[in-house]
Amino acid sequence: MTPIGRSRVLSIVVCGAGPAIEFAGFVKMAIDRGWDVQVIATTPALAFFDQAAIEALTGNPVRSQYSPPGSPRSRIPEAIVVAPGTYNTINKWALGIADTYALGVLAEQTALGIPIVVLPFVNIHLASRAPFQQSVKSLRAEGVSILLGHGAFEPRQPRTGGEGYADYPWHLALDEVDGMVGTTDEDPDPDA
Ligand SMILES: Cc1cc2nc3c(=O)[nH]c(=O)nc-3n(C[C@H](O)[C@H](O)[C@H](O)COP(=O)(O)O)c2cc1C
Repeated sequence: MTPIGRSRVLSIVVCGAGPAIEFAGFVKMAIDRGWDVQVIATTPALAFFDQAAIEALTGNPVRSQYSPPGSPRSRIPEAIVVAPGTYNTINKWALGIADTYALGVLAEQTALGIPIVVLPFVNIHLASRAPFQQSVKSLRAEGVSILLGHGAFEPRQPRTGGEGYADYPWHLALDEVDGMVGTTDEDPDPDA
């Protein structure tokens, strides 16, 4: 286990849903918890936040497409958070579709056994659909932690974006990651 403050790499996959307009706050929260954050955005997500601001915060490029062959590769993270996770990405990921960079990363890294936490953002209608419920079930069966339901993300009525996203529980995703990878409050060798 890598202690806090020592370059624990967290990949955050951000999808195109309302809370992504407040994505910079989540990235800051993760950095404050000692993560070296690398952001992977779906193409629709890029419309929701300021890419340059996120790159300035993390010191890492925001990746949304495959790089040309021979380019530097992203680092394999210690954990992955998908937030906000859309209906679209969750369903495609569960089915094994990998037609975007973000889905390609998720497809492969799910198989590596890296801790993955999803904080969805779907309305009650999308959440009630059988394909979505099946996707949640099958990703959970593969070991993915999906923070959906009572005490986690609870789907809202549609078109409630005007009420803002203050209640979107970003912090739960980081708490869950810490629970999955473990945290170290004490430096094992304080003189090192
Ligand atoms: C303003 C806006 C808000 C959206 N909010 C949501 C949402 O809350 N949840 C969701 O699943 N999709 C939402 N969508 C639709 C997704 O952006 C759309 O399904 C897109 O194809 C998702 O792609 P991605 O999964 O690759 O990010 C929203 C789209 C727009 C333009």
